[in-house]
Formats: sequence, C-alpha cells, structure tokens
Amino acid sequence: MENNSYAVAVLGAGNIGSAVISRLQDLDNDIVQLFIKKVLVTDLSKDREIDKELLTDNFDEILNDDSIDLVIEVLGGIDPGREYIKALLSSGKSVITANKDIIADCGEELVSLAIENNACLYFEAAVAAGIPVLKPLIESLRGEALTRVSGIINGTSNYMLTSMEEGSSYEDALSTAQELGYAEPDPTNDVEGIDAKYKAMILSLLCFGVSPEIEEVFTEGISKITKDDFDWASRLDKTIKLVAQIDNNNNGFNARVYPVLINQKHPLASIRGALNAVVVEGENVNQLVFSGPGAGADPTASAVIGDVLSACHQLGSNQSNWYPLRKNKGENRNFENVQSSWFIRLSVNDEPGVLASIAGTFGENNVSIESVIQEGRGDQAELVLVTHEAPEKDLNNSIEQITSLSAVTTVTSVLRVYI
Ligand SMILES: NC(=O)c1ccc[n+]([C@@H]2O[C@H](COP(=O)([O-])OP(=O)(O)OC[C@H]3O[C@@H](n4cnc5c(N)ncnc54)[C@H](OP(=O)(O)O)[C@@H]3O)[C@@H](O)[C@H]2O)c1
Repeated sequence: MENNSYAVAVLGAGNIGSAVISRLQDLDNDIVQLFIKKVLVTDLSKDREIDKELLTDNFDEILNDDSIDLVIEVLGGIDPGREYIKALLSSGKSVITANKDIIADCGEELVSLAIENNACLYFEAAVAAGIPVLKPLIESLRGEALTRVSGIINGTSNYMLTSMEEGSSYEDALSTAQELGYAEPDPTNDVEGIDAKYKAMILSLLCFGVSPEIEEVFTEGISKITKDDFDWASRLDKTIKLVAQIDNNNNGFNARVYPVLINQKHPLASIRGALNAVVVEGENVNQLVFSGPGAGADPTASAVIGDVLSACHQLGSNQSNWYPLRKNKGENRNFENVQSSWFIRLSVNDEPGVLASIAGTFGENNVSIESVIQEGRGDQAELVLVTHEAPEKDLNNSIEQITSLSAVTTVTSVLRVYI
C-alpha cells in the first residue's frame, strides 16, 4: 500500500459494524485513504448493503492477509473476539475495538501484546460510545494526578431512572425502554450494573493503572429502586442515579457501581434519558465533565472512525500507540472500608422509644445520624434517616441489628448518598 493508503478489515457487520462500514465508505478525507478489504460475519447469505465480495466467514483469511493493516472488531461478547484480537496483535496488525467485555477482561494483556508487536490498540467506543473520554484521559490528562472518576455509563438504566423520576414505575420504565430498543429482552446486564462494571474496570486501568478483578468491583443495580425512593430523594433536593465511582486517595484505590442519591446541583444529576456522562477529578484540573450519547450505532461508529484515523497516523511510525500505563499509587482498598453517607427508609411501629432504639443501634456501630424525618401511617410510621459518612461494614452491621428490632416492620430502602 502507498504511504497514506490502508487496507482495513471489519469483524462483524451487525448494528455497529454496518454503521462503521458505511462511514468508512463515505469517508471524505484528504489525509488517508481507507479500503475495506474483508468483512467477517457468520451468515454469508444474509441480506446486507455490503458488497458480497468483501464478506467472509473465515477469520484466517483476515489474519493471514499481509496487506491488511488495521482490523476493527465489532463482534460483541468475549468469544471468539478475544482470541481474534490476541492473534491480530501478535501478528503486528493494529486493532480498534468497541468491545468493553474484552477490554475489561484482559485489557492489560492486550496493551502488552500491542506494545511488544509495535501494533496499535484503540477502544474509545468501549466506554460511553460517542463521548471522547478515553483519549483525553490517556493523552491530555497524562500529567494530571487523578483523584476520582465518576460516571453514568449505562444509558439504559439512566433512561429508566429518568422515567421513574418523572413518575413511572420500575416495570413501566423497563417495558418502555424495551419498546424503544434501549433495553434487551433480558435486561440483566444493564439494570444490575454489570455493563457499567465492565466500563468501570476499563476506566480503572486507564485512570489509575489498576486492573481490578471482576469480583473486586462491588456492583449493585437499580432493580430495587422504587418511585417512593424518588419522591423522598426529591424532598431532600436529590435524585437517584446509577453511578460508577473509581477513586484513588490516601485511603487507597476502589472501584464500584451502585445507585446513589445525588444532589440536584451535581453535574451527573442533570444527565437525563439515555445520555452518559463522566466526571473526572484531579488535583490541578478540579472537575471536568464529559457528556453526550453513550450508545447508538452512529455515535459508536464516530468513535471507531476517530480511532481508525489515529491508528493510521501512528502506523507510519512503526510504534504502538501506548504510553506506559499509570502506576497505581495506593493499595486496593477493601470495599467494606469505603465510606458513604446513607439514606435509610424504615417502617416502624408508631410507639414511644422506637427512634431512640434505632439511634442507639447506629451509635453502637459508630454511625452518626445527620437528619431524621418521621411520618405517621396509622399505627405505623415511616422513618427516613440520612447518616453522616460511615464505612460499609459499620452500616451493614447497624442494618442487620435494626432489622431484628421488634418495633421495626420493614427496612424499605438502604441507599448510598453521593459525597
Ligand atoms: N450498540 C451500542 O450502542 C454499542 C455501543 C458501544 C459499543 N458497542 C459494542 O459493539 C459491539 C458490536 O455490537 P452490535 O450491536 O453491532 O452486535 P450485533 O448487532 O450482534 O452484530 C454482531 C456482528 O458480528 C458477527 N458475528 C458474531 N459472532 C461472530 C463469529 N463468531 N464469527 C463471525 N462473525 C460473527 C455477526 O454476524 P451475522 O451478521 O452474520 O450474524 C454480526 O454481523 C459489541 O461489542 C458492543 O458491546 C455497542
């Protein structure tokens, strides 16, 4: 190939792959010329708007074609994409992927393979799709001592939480999200925070040089949130968001995903519908906010094409795009020592001494109470408490003991408050 002309293969021609192929074909660019050489699919007979000559169902035709410089992986899932990417990088081909599952699973190993083989590896679309957040973290913020990265990085759950804030039940919010194509028929990965966990693992690697094991990232989803929780959050000038939070401070490093009550004035509180946002905090930059479309074929293809052009620029240098990863400065902090403020809703018998016994139990576990609201409901009362900051283990011990108090009928909600 000429100096500014590159042959590209695309693994996958589904939702994202077909948008990428169409963008590659229409790319009007006077810096580089890109030719699609092969497109890998499973079903060669499917009707597609792609020249049939380009299609193959044999990965080896791509791996063994020395004229192919760049390969875009948009297959989805871990297998066989993970082995394909390893084989491509090992053979010196550069890879662009939108696949968060694979990068979360073995990103560090793939980075090493890319470096060893002077190949490029880019995956901007794997986190927050159309929002350019990884390149700023890797390049522009290289010299910054990052302290915390927080994000709404799952559009489906944010769409549902926004609907619930507007009055929908959880069930109605989910079925509308499914009708609109935001949620899969099996929504587990989105509503239980698993998709956000994978993205949090990638952010951990890039921001703090830590590849946490999947089980080290505490993850709680939104399926227990109710409309009543939103009503209470609103009374406290807050809303509820599913937030991935990764921090590295004097107490060490920790990554987690859970729903939080968050102040209405925080930038993440105003992210509505299927949008995503990432808030980056550092010692010198204070707070940076990246927001926009975190899913969808066109925004995702835009991020992939940006990576393809970066890779073309890099290919001429015969060097990997990777700088050494940041080094983790802190020890991994055990999740049970992570501090939060807490919102707790209880149903209790409306009788003298109940509040004192609950406050006493918190006190015995070193959890101090910031505010209490009590409202009568016949012979029952609803009690809403917000605590000062306390570690997970102390709060969990308190809740376990409070649940067994005879005057407590139900512990309705226990949610963290974003601090
Ligand atoms: N959807 C989004 O908004 C979004 C955003 C960011 C990142 N991503 C990521 O983008 C990737 C692609 O997602 P998608 O929605 O485009 O998936 P998709 O619609 O299911 O498409 C998958 C494509 O890969 C092909 N394929 C799957 N397994 C294969 C195999 N073993 N051998 C050969 N071809 C195979 C399929 O072939 P056939 O066409 O023959 O079935 C299909 O063309 C995923 O990693 C996803 O996480 C998606």
